[in-house]
Amino acid sequence: MIIEIKDLRFKELISAATIAEKVKEMGAAIQDDYGGKKPLMIGVLNGAFVFAADLMRACAPMPCEITFTKLSSYKGTESTGTLESVIGLDFEIEGRHIILLEDIVDTGFTLSTYISQLRFFNPASIAIAALLVKPDALNFPLDIKYRCFDIPKAFVVGYGLDYDGEGRQFDSIYQLYEG
Ligand code: IMP
Repeated sequence: MIIEIKDLRFKELISAATIAEKVKEMGAAIQDDYGGKKPLMIGVLNGAFVFAADLMRACAPMPCEITFTKLSSYKGTESTGTLESVIGLDFEIEGRHIILLEDIVDTGFTLSTYISQLRFFNPASIAIAALLVKPDALNFPLDIKYRCFDIPKAFVVGYGLDYDGEGRQFDSIYQLYEG
């Protein structure tokens, strides 16, 4: 299926059903690893809000908490190389087991920069749970403990991810289509 957003066309890369299955598996793995630890999930806005809502429910009945931060390193379809628009956290981080929920790891700049900031607050541990990873674009050292899908180095939208503010509402993931 092809969709159009503004001036671009995208074709389906990962279906809603496949996403749902993988997110459930990730929730089960997190429950196995964090039972009794009451992790604090930090969703990275804006893109991770859909993934965060599904992943947190896939972690039931394990006790866990969630908050959000807003980080931005993107304009249009290209990374700017600077981290902008940081919204601070409303939780005590010290001693907590943190799971960062990220929609997509591209170069890894956003999370590696954010993790070095979080370490100042002495969390007990920090792990990354990413919906998508572009392994060929990774340029910063990152240990990604949980990931649903590795994808090619192409621009994607849907399931919370946007192109210039639009396209987040689709329940599948779509890849830029230049055909
Ligand atoms: P990184 O810092 O290069 O790893 O980029 C991570 C952030 O860039 C993500 O949180 C997204 O907001 C955005 N991003 C990276 N690739 C894409 C994409 O293909 N579509 C939409 N947003 C993307």
